[in-house]
Amino acid sequence: MIRYGIGLIVCLLALLPAIGQTPNYSQDIAPILYTHCTSCHRPGEIGPMPFTNYNEAVAYGSMIKSVTQSRYMPPWKPDPAYRSFVDENVLSTAQIQAIKDWVDGGMPQGNPALEPPLPSFPTGSQIGVPDLVLPMAQAFTQAGNNTDQYRIFVLPTGLQQDKEIKAIEFRAGNKRIAHHAIIGMDTTNQANMLDQAQAGYGYTQYGGFGFTPNEPLLAGWAPGMSPKVYPQGIGKVLWKNSKLLLQMHYAPTPIPETDSSVINIFYANAPLTRQATLTPITPQHLLNGPFVIQPNTVKTFRARYTIGIAVSLLNLLPHGHLLCKSWEAYAVKPNGDTIKLVKINDWDFNWQGMYSFRNMQPLPAGTQLFVHGTYDNTASNPLNPHSPPQIVRWGENTADEMFLLYLTWVPYQVGDENIVISVNEPIPGVIMPGNKIYPVYPNPSGDHRTLGFSLEKAGKIKIALFDLNGKEVQVIKNQEWYSPGIQTVDFSVNSLAKGMYLLRIVGDGFDMSEKMLVH
Ligand code: HEC
Repeated sequence: MIRYGIGLIVCLLALLPAIGQTPNYSQDIAPILYTHCTSCHRPGEIGPMPFTNYNEAVAYGSMIKSVTQSRYMPPWKPDPAYRSFVDENVLSTAQIQAIKDWVDGGMPQGNPALEPPLPSFPTGSQIGVPDLVLPMAQAFTQAGNNTDQYRIFVLPTGLQQDKEIKAIEFRAGNKRIAHHAIIGMDTTNQANMLDQAQAGYGYTQYGGFGFTPNEPLLAGWAPGMSPKVYPQGIGKVLWKNSKLLLQMHYAPTPIPETDSSVINIFYANAPLTRQATLTPITPQHLLNGPFVIQPNTVKTFRARYTIGIAVSLLNLLPHGHLLCKSWEAYAVKPNGDTIKLVKINDWDFNWQGMYSFRNMQPLPAGTQLFVHGTYDNTASNPLNPHSPPQIVRWGENTADEMFLLYLTWVPYQVGDENIVISVNEPIPGVIMPGNKIYPVYPNPSGDHRTLGFSLEKAGKIKIALFDLNGKEVQVIKNQEWYSPGIQTVDFSVNSLAKGMYLLRIVGDGFDMSEKMLVH
């Protein structure tokens, strides 16, 4: 304590914002927007307005406040308190409060020199040079009639033999309208026939592909999601003479927009020892079937599926249509332990995604999977396609429903629990943010604080608080996995005595710290 002396404390205090001061754009709001919003809200992307500088944010201040208060933005459907996934994008309550305080306080800019730089977003492939590039054969024009469209394009792979792959990357051609994409694989002619039966390139089909392809879900994409590279030795096989089926969800647009999207395929660099397999949980597994939704009812369907061999889960994708309201899936191991898999409290057909676990999720043989899906077939469901409500059954079309949870898995191997599922190392030419620690907010008072930091590489980090004698007094994150880029964590200082503390982030090859006061 003596070593640091009064002088240092006075000097630090001068740097800290005064108690109760309104958050400012440069130090408090820009780090939030650039991390959580600008990936979609910048020119050419799906967000309807850009947030890339102070003036743009100020122009929409009250809207930003309201969509963050309601947690409508950023769009992230899985409940983060239930299970956390790669690419998770959620604001903390402290961040939402900071935005509110900033807007209510007149949106001060602060010192522009303290604003973090805009992250640089990759323009080409995010994971390297693809081995096979499958572009849409023609550009597709989405009419400017303000309606959604689900359009399927058939892309022949031209493969003369089966090919082992480690990653599939979807690159949206026109991000103003590319809302989500689902990629399947098929070797029959069914998709071509559906294509020929409709005018123009591709065919319009709501919900699915119009039939069940050999492999209904090779990959899924939604804005903000990074392509996943299967861990070494794990992958998928593209069949010879197969075609990829690209289902595009095009967002409504007031003016015609043209898209030509691309699928990049990355071959496995070593022979696969395990193939990623897809298992759908369907109405066939219902404990309270059949899957018939009577009019004027809200019903929760419950499925149970018993796993025959030890597996490791990689990702999952729930799927329902417009009556669907919520999902919950969990696993119960033979020893009684429960593993939470996914919970979606407000299912939104418009924001579907394929969610990758941060680490491979082992489940022993005999584990039971429980999947619950709730459907609202009453007149008070504004999305109900029937007025008055009618009996609804399984089907691919708008007015039909689905109960599907796809799970991608491999047979378990010892050590799987430590395998991180991630994007590859950053590629040359893409500037990643360096390792950096941002000023903690609020400081020096407030029970709940937010720490912002950026990481150059994915990895496990430890965040802890030390007193000035070097004694660890609180662990905030213990060897948790983080992806590269700007991150934030929330923590409470309730249990700490007044005084000066050192916040320290330690990871592979770095150790950074800053001082923090508790008043
Ligand atoms: C994954 C992409 C994505 C991210 C990330 C994202 N948005 Fe959006 N945002 C959209 C899209 C698409 C729309 C328009 C469609 C809609 O309203 O659902 C939108 C709409 C909005 C609107 C207009 C809402 C309205 O009622 O018209 C605001 C304001 C907004 N976003 C703010 C934010 C803020 C603030 C963040 C970060 C905290 C954020 N968004 C993150 C995609 C995104």
